[in-house]
Amino acid sequence: MNPMSNYEPFVAEKTSETVAVYPGTFDPITNGHLDIIHRGLTLFDRVIVAVAENSSKKPLFDLEERTSMIRACFPADETRIEVDVVSGLLVDYAYRRGAKAIIRGLRAVSDFDYEFQLALMNRRIEREVETVFLMTGFRWIYISSSIIKDAARYGGDLSGLVPDHVCERLRRRFLQAQE
Ligand code: COA
Repeated sequence: MNPMSNYEPFVAEKTSETVAVYPGTFDPITNGHLDIIHRGLTLFDRVIVAVAENSSKKPLFDLEERTSMIRACFPADETRIEVDVVSGLLVDYAYRRGAKAIIRGLRAVSDFDYEFQLALMNRRIEREVETVFLMTGFRWIYISSSIIKDAARYGGDLSGLVPDHVCERLRRRFLQAQE
């Protein structure tokens, strides 16, 4: 502390690690999602990537494929990121896992209405879990898993938008579909 000053900053004692849940369908994971995960790690000690079954979306990849593609994005010894499957109410899952927050990425104003509704409903169910919004990186503002799948279906160049192994899986999946 500066001896000329009597100002002593208050530093809250860190009692336990902070955990956040980053949910989604991840069909498949994109670089936009990865950007949110990495930025989430600057705010929380650990991030649990929670893969939702989401039958309403009829995913192209099954749960096992989606989770394995996410795991393959990180080194095996990365202890700050966990990939798990979530079924049932997301906020209940987050609470059970001791998460302080649910992270959501916002891409454009069009995301806001749905996100606002979801956050308020989750808060009504469980007040101890906050929703934290991160602006999606500018480079990925226009991508979604659907648009990636659409481009892949017609052989579009996905470099820089998804990890290489995801690109390869998409390519193989659409090749199989043509056979
Ligand atoms: N970069 C790239 N794409 C992004 C993105 C980013 N940073 N953030 C979102 N997206 C895309 C996703 O790829 C997805 O694309 P798609 O619609 O083409 O598949 C789209 O934006 C929406 O994704 P996301 O916001 O993650 O929603 P989701 O539909 O994948 O997942 C759940 C929604 C699973 C989080 C939500 O349905 C849920 O919480 N379900 C559990 C049940 C529950 O608790 N319901 C709420 C009751 S109150």
